[in-house]
Amino acid sequence: MELIRNVRECQLWRRGVSGSVGFVPTMGALHDGHLSLVRASILACDLTVVSIYVNPAQFGPGEDLGAYPRTLEMDLQALRDLQVSAVFLPADGEMYPPDYSTFVMEEQLSARLEGQSRPGHFRGVTTIVSKLFNIIRPDYAYFGRKDAQQLRVIRKMTRDLNYNIDIVACPTVREPDGLAMSSRNQYLTENERRRAAVIFRALSDGKALFENGERNAHLIRNAVIARISAEPLAKIDYISIADDASLIEFEGEITADALVSVAVFLGRTRLIDNITLRLKN
Ligand code: PAJ
Repeated sequence: MELIRNVRECQLWRRGVSGSVGFVPTMGALHDGHLSLVRASILACDLTVVSIYVNPAQFGPGEDLGAYPRTLEMDLQALRDLQVSAVFLPADGEMYPPDYSTFVMEEQLSARLEGQSRPGHFRGVTTIVSKLFNIIRPDYAYFGRKDAQQLRVIRKMTRDLNYNIDIVACPTVREPDGLAMSSRNQYLTENERRRAAVIFRALSDGKALFENGERNAHLIRNAVIARISAEPLAKIDYISIADDASLIEFEGEITADALVSVAVFLGRTRLIDNITLRLKN
């Protein structure tokens, strides 16, 4: 497994290889969710590149950039075990030299949901992913449905900027009690961790109502809110029931596939999760 620490070296490596290249961008602190993306790439592509980079541009002031978990040695061992071809580990100065001044922005989907709570977040994500796409020039790039809005924003950027890359969406990997795996779960106290299962239970309540024929978005939203509010340690940031493609909120009847997404604080830790409601014709 090649460890590549600078952009030039990565570009040289890319020039020297042939066959299909799959790419999995990450911020490290790898768990089974990340590794499921890596496995999908390894199965489908001749070569797999993983990047590990905690991208400062996607963290807001007062967010957890400094505290973000870093477990590099364990991450590299897990990637070696899976027989990843190369890991790109750029330093901050590589990605954002002091006079850096170019940013990539998607202006519709990015404004909704996470965009409302975390202004500037997706500008940071689209900028870094676009830079990584340019450096690595993959044929396929793998993203988790756990970050449903990010997946949609990246798909849109890829189309709008004509990247010749297939974006592959992978299912959310969950703990046995339903909690979506996340590097941020490490922040939870034991008690918060136990209580965090309420997030997936609430989403599942919403889905069960929908599957029993309920189509009123307010009613479903209220059921999700009620379940989470019953947990005193959980504080809702937002709950959205939106069109799965446009991310525009449903106000009355759900008339197309819908994405139910939530951001919830457990103590000081902010967790996101989502579930899709499919209208079968
Ligand atoms: P990070 O949070 O490290 O996630 C990297 C990838 O792993 C994302 O595509 C994310 O959706 C996926 N992922 C995380 N948890 C998952 C789970 N439980 N099941 C399935 N997939 C999961 O997302 C980022 O990093 C960054 O924004 C990045 C795209 C790397 C840009 O900096």
